[in-house]
Amino acid sequence: MKEKILRELINNKDKLITGTYIAEHLNITRSYVSKVINEFISSGHVIDIQDRSGYIYRNSNKHINITKKDINHEINNIYILDKVDSTNKYLKELANNGENEITVVIAKEQIAGRGRLGRSFVSNSGKGIYMSILLRPTFGIELSKRITSLTATAVSEAIDEVTKLNTKIKWVNDIYVNDKKLAGILTEGHTNFESGKVEYIVVGIGINLYKQIFPDNLDNIITTVEDETNKVFSINEIIESILNKLIYYYENIKDNIHINEYRKRSYVINKNVELNIHGNIKYGKVLDIDDEGELIVLINDKKETIYSGEITKVRLKDE
Ligand code: BTN
Repeated sequence: MKEKILRELINNKDKLITGTYIAEHLNITRSYVSKVINEFISSGHVIDIQDRSGYIYRNSNKHINITKKDINHEINNIYILDKVDSTNKYLKELANNGENEITVVIAKEQIAGRGRLGRSFVSNSGKGIYMSILLRPTFGIELSKRITSLTATAVSEAIDEVTKLNTKIKWVNDIYVNDKKLAGILTEGHTNFESGKVEYIVVGIGINLYKQIFPDNLDNIITTVEDETNKVFSINEIIESILNKLIYYYENIKDNIHINEYRKRSYVINKNVELNIHGNIKYGKVLDIDDEGELIVLINDKKETIYSGEITKVRLKDE
């Protein structure tokens, strides 16, 4: 029955339809219609209520329909796909065929979503943002390295702006909230070995937005925006905010204007951590993050700069 009520509303999108009409049409009570419509609203459908029993269906917060016009910056293209193996892989193929920057690929579902270090990224249908952005830097590899930290900054800021959460960045670029992972970023580059020039960079962003069932082994370590807020926020608003911020930081990459915010949002500064540096396990206390996004760690009373690797454990204060 709920499905039928939803269909009535969607079939009359942007038009006023009364509770009495739906009730009579489907042979149910008006109070049941009103109860079900309230349920739809809390699960992310945008429905205007007029004079208490008139309804106008607008859209679903979960429905992706962002366009180039919604972004404050020049964008080449936004592709929205129902299903793909991986948006990063798809966009790299477009890039190899000459696609221009700035091109965005967003999928409702990924069947082979990829994470860092060969891991997979759970990408259930309609449950999150699975998005890749193609950049073709005109500057060298040194500046290009900043793309990782500027993306993490943009994603963390955008989520907080829309949801009022207080997300943190776990070096290098995982987004955490309440000690659980909410989002991850996978940056892949293609360099021309002969010229040493960066041909393109594909930045992949995955964010768990809505409640869903995760594999058992991940249950206690990852979370979703809906689990943390009990709200269904608009997927388009979050995508729009990420792209606006990311492109702005990218255009200003030389000035490194994102780095203070990156540091401020760090989940690891002043914490004791376990590091996996290419298979080598080290323990230390994170002192700071430098202007290039590298980790300054005190290991056995010696300051070390960590350029790449992974923080495998963060000791919480009360541990
Ligand atoms: C990580 O947590 O290790 C990084 C996860 C990155 C996931 C995103 S989802 C969109 C893009 N396509 C992929 O296959 N991966 C990235």
